[in-house]
Amino acid sequence: MEILRVENLQKRFKKTEAVKDVSFVLNSGEIVGLIGPNGAGKTTTIKCIMGLLNKTAGDIKVAGQDHLYDEAREKLAYIPESPDLYPMLTVWEHLKFIALAYELKDWEGKALNYLNAFDLIEKKDELCKNLSKGMKQKVSITCALLHEPQIFLVDEPMIGLDPKAIRELKNTLLSLKKEGKTILLSTHLLDTAEDLCDVVIVMKKGEVMFEGTIEELKTMMSAEENSSLEELFLEVTKDDE
Ligand SMILES: Nc1ncnc2c1ncn2[C@@H]1O[C@H](COP(=O)(O)OP(=O)(O)OP(=O)(O)O)[C@@H](O)[C@H]1O
Ligand SMILES: [Mg+2]
Repeated sequence: MEILRVENLQKRFKKTEAVKDVSFVLNSGEIVGLIGPNGAGKTTTIKCIMGLLNKTAGDIKVAGQDHLYDEAREKLAYIPESPDLYPMLTVWEHLKFIALAYELKDWEGKALNYLNAFDLIEKKDELCKNLSKGMKQKVSITCALLHEPQIFLVDEPMIGLDPKAIRELKNTLLSLKKEGKTILLSTHLLDTAEDLCDVVIVMKKGEVMFEGTIEELKTMMSAEENSSLEELFLEVTKDDE
């Protein structure tokens, strides 16, 4: 079932056309990889969907509703590249804040489960300014998970996480998918994309170069059976001479 529709999205920053004419549809129960070289427009696309940047043109619909309506916004969660936490709030106070903002009931048990899974339980009452980079990322992920949105927009979540946390996050994303949630995952880790994603969207210089399964990407590039996603990615995003 369609849950997010991006149509002819454009975002210009003065002279830079960061996103040129991007369209795609996300369905429930799928993990979609957003991949592309540095500066391709991935973060800009995600921020436009979240309404954190004003789009220059285009249409974004969440379950058929404009993405800027409250009801649409409640269906979205964003895990940014570098988490914005309140330095003077503790880990637990962040979770409490989310619970208040979204009027959540019986959230404590779930919050404790996530803190345990991410080895963060000892830091429950620590101020966020005193956390390591990866720990901050884990708090930001836990905040996003807590309010049970329909769609997760996840920008480079693995950077800074240790191997155990990466595995926890991957398992979490897979179980969200099983629950019928939708995940748009921007990543440079192509093996992660290959492991997790049903569909990949390859962007370059603000445009979508490819959208489909990795199998379809192989067919399109008439690639060998055993070509890696890395080889295909480099082929699709190479500069024309
Ligand atoms: N606030 C801004 N002001 C001006 N230009 C911007 C701004 N944000 C992004 N850009 C430009 O938009 C283009 C796309 O940037 P964006 O951050 O979306 O790329 P990305 O695909 O997320 O790259 P990366 O893989 O490095 O995270 C770049 O050319 C960048 O310089
Ligand atoms: Mg980015």
